[in-house]
Amino acid sequence: MIFRAVIFDLDGVITDTAHLHYQAWKETAAAIGITIDPTFNARLKGISRMASLALILRHGGKERAFDEAERARLAARKNARYGELLASLDSRAILPGIPALLDALAQHGIAVGLASVSLNAPFILDALGLRARFDYCVDASLLRHSKPDPEIFLTACAGLGVAPEQAIGIEDAQAGIDAINASGMRSVGIGDDLQGAGLLLPDTGALSWRCLQDFWSTPPRADAPVN
Ligand code: G6P
Ligand code: MG
Repeated sequence: MIFRAVIFDLDGVITDTAHLHYQAWKETAAAIGITIDPTFNARLKGISRMASLALILRHGGKERAFDEAERARLAARKNARYGELLASLDSRAILPGIPALLDALAQHGIAVGLASVSLNAPFILDALGLRARFDYCVDASLLRHSKPDPEIFLTACAGLGVAPEQAIGIEDAQAGIDAINASGMRSVGIGDDLQGAGLLLPDTGALSWRCLQDFWSTPPRADAPVN
């Protein structure tokens, strides 16, 4: 199978905004008497805004205390604060290894996609100065299912005009690795606590054109997840 595309997650792969999401959620949760800590926050990686709020309310034993309209207000409050925290974002926040990899992918004619559930993704790519480097970005507002459902990666493949079997997905969240594997793409995980990644790298600094090529030319492991 020919290697034709790489589809990136955003938060934790292109840039790291997890601490800003955490700060904004922490303040929003505190305002309704719920305390969250970094360990809990790790569970929100790759999870959509409303699903994150639902987890926080459950964590605080308050899942029945807020109706839909109140939840929408809480999510809007969190997002407004997150937007304030994002204001200083610029190209210095691009994670190591990413600019060189994007250059190499362009040089070799590999299509580049973005599969982020963040509704702020277009703004973040603009702030990082990277929007033009992506051939297709999934519009998260049109998705029916969140990661670990493969919908977002399948939508990205369709948008790029490639088959999932011709693409690599790169993710830092378990829900994302599960989504990539379920799509029929090959998965690269960033971090140390991910199950089922076809290739697991400690951080984005270890990503390179060479390592993706080597990975592509290695047959999937016999114990790799069945797609
Ligand atoms: C990413 C982050 C999640 C965040 C989600 C939605 O996947 O890893 O922590 O909840 O995006 O982000 P948004 O910007 O739409 O609130
Ligand atoms: Mg992520």
